[in-house]
Amino acid sequence: MELIQDTLRPPLEYVKGVPLIKYFAETLGPLESFRARPDDLLISTYPKSGTTWVSQILDMIYQDGDLDKCHRAPIYIRVVYVARNAKDVVVSYYHFYRMTKVLPDPGTWDSFLEKFMAGEVSYGSWYQHVQEWWELSRTHPVLYLFYEDMKENPKREIRKILEFVGRSLPENTLDFIVQHTSFKEMKKNPMTNYSTLPKEFMDHSISPFMRRGMAGDWKTTFTVAQNERFDEDYAEKMAGCSLSFRSQL
Ligand code: A3P
Repeated sequence: MELIQDTLRPPLEYVKGVPLIKYFAETLGPLESFRARPDDLLISTYPKSGTTWVSQILDMIYQDGDLDKCHRAPIYIRVVYVARNAKDVVVSYYHFYRMTKVLPDPGTWDSFLEKFMAGEVSYGSWYQHVQEWWELSRTHPVLYLFYEDMKENPKREIRKILEFVGRSLPENTLDFIVQHTSFKEMKKNPMTNYSTLPKEFMDHSISPFMRRGMAGDWKTTFTVAQNERFDEDYAEKMAGCSLSFRSQL
């Protein structure tokens, strides 16, 4: 029993002030000496903001839309960042915590919401993450995308990615990528829905990884009081930042 308690749902470990999943924190050492090559592409997001989605889009772009190929071709050093509105992120994150056994127990929704606002969740503060990358995107080659824009018009956003990575694809390939990176298709694709991971790590019977895939789903979870408190705290933490998110479409 003690062993199970030790390996399952261990507390987060702080690395340079950022709380991380214990097992990730323990493997960070070798990354200290990691140096990106000029032809590397980095995908960066705060958790639950569309990492899996944009990864699949980029994979398909580099495979020229060929679903059978699985190797990535090189490009120049650039970063693709995806940001999603905080309310949908925190709801998605809560359900992710519930189903992911290497994360601490999320507790009640209300207490998780408080932890999120305080930045006491894995990967730390959403507010700091989105703002720092936003500032960086002004001076560095960072393509800053929004989940809500991708939902609204995936083809338009995929075109932005293509332009950013300096590639072009025939119109029918682009349409094929739009189709196969839709929520519906990715939810049933074992290569993208995380169903290949052991149940001891992710338990999809508690909540599927590909859960809702919507903008504005937070409304089914936030109470009126929680929403007011969140908005007030949000205004303080995002004061002076020119970033603007859409929390519904
Ligand atoms: P929900 O829990 O709100 O459904 P990440 O990959 O960064 O962990 O983000 C996961 C979130 O992105 C989940 O949100 C998941 O359903 C959503 N998602 C993944 N692929 C998607 C797609 N093709 N279209 C829309 N949402 C997608």
